[in-house]
Amino acid sequence: MKLVVKNALETQLLAEKLAKRLKPQDLILLTGDLGAGKTTFTKGLAYGLGIMHNVKSPTFTLIREYHQGRLPLYHMDVYRLENGGAEDLGLEEYFNGDGVSVVEWAQFIPSELPSTYLEITIVKDNANDERRTLILEPKGDRYERLIEELKQDIV
Ligand SMILES: Nc1ncnc2c1ncn2[C@@H]1O[C@H](COP(=O)(O)OP(=O)(O)OP(=O)(O)O)[C@@H](O)[C@H]1O
Ligand SMILES: [Mg+2]
Repeated sequence: MKLVVKNALETQLLAEKLAKRLKPQDLILLTGDLGAGKTTFTKGLAYGLGIMHNVKSPTFTLIREYHQGRLPLYHMDVYRLENGGAEDLGLEEYFNGDGVSVVEWAQFIPSELPSTYLEITIVKDNANDERRTLILEPKGDRYERLIEELKQDIV
């Protein structure tokens, strides 16, 4: 599924809608260039889970956990693991935990990922600073169903 959004608020609103449909152990991979809007999307997702804390980029901490919402949110940014080191993070415990995991720059840790997830690629627009194309690609039945549900929420 492909969607064009006009600004950061629209990105967050989409994430908020998705959040309402999420279940424990759901995994979302956020792909896109620096400044594409991966953390912005995660802020919307957190809001949709009822997390009122300010979600900050975990670039230096790698993982931040939020336990104030309907489900725990595990927000990971593995940009700094381009050259390895992901084995030590204990990612599996997060993926198999009680919450929802969101991973920025997951392409850097292919061997640490489960086989099913929802990948969302955020593409910037050359002509417009605030426009983005969001490409949602489900891997596995759970995520195909999730996309069908999301489509119903959007129309
Ligand atoms: N349509 C949009 N969707 C998302 N962000 C947008 C949009 N339009 C403008 N922006 C702005 O672009 C910036 C995106 O920054 P953000 O930190 O979310 O990117 P990121 O993909 O997480 O980057 P990084 O790879 O450095 O972690 C924010 O300042 C946001 O307000
Ligand atoms: Mg980010």
